[in-house]
Amino acid sequence: MNSAQTIYDLVGEEKIRSLTRYFYLEVGKNDALRKLYPEDLSPAEERLALFLIQVFGGPDTYSEQRGHPRLRMRHAQWKIDADMRDHWMNAMLKGLDQLKLEQDIKDAMMSYFVRAANHLINHA
Ligand code: HEM
Repeated sequence: MNSAQTIYDLVGEEKIRSLTRYFYLEVGKNDALRKLYPEDLSPAEERLALFLIQVFGGPDTYSEQRGHPRLRMRHAQWKIDADMRDHWMNAMLKGLDQLKLEQDIKDAMMSYFVRAANHLINHA
């Protein structure tokens, strides 16, 4: 992994979209998570895909459509404790496992998700 290349360059949009698809399949199977999300998961899947494409170095379409991410503020409406973070992280890890990425790219994505998920805890 060359430091000038972004995760988006290395992984490509297709795999980021696959990741969000797998992630939401896992959300659908997890009662604790599922009840937080709207009935129709497709718009949520598109929002997360565009966000991750942007965060990993791709086009800024997420911010063009949704404005500044302000993820802590956008997540304030749900009670996110360590258990809920673990549900979310497990769903994301299962998704990541299905992508068959090189280990260093997977590690880089994982460490971003760990940091981001910890940052969104808003309840003891
Ligand atoms: C820690 C546990 C988390 C929980 C329980 C959680 C839950 C949710 C829920 C219920 C939604 C609403 C779905 C929708 O309609 O878009 C949402 C939206 C979103 N989440 Fe999370 N989330 C968590 C962590 C994360 C993390 C770590 C990220 C980033 C890597 C993230 C990124 C997003 C984004 C980008 C949206 C859409 C925001 C928007 O534009 O409205 N979430 N989340």
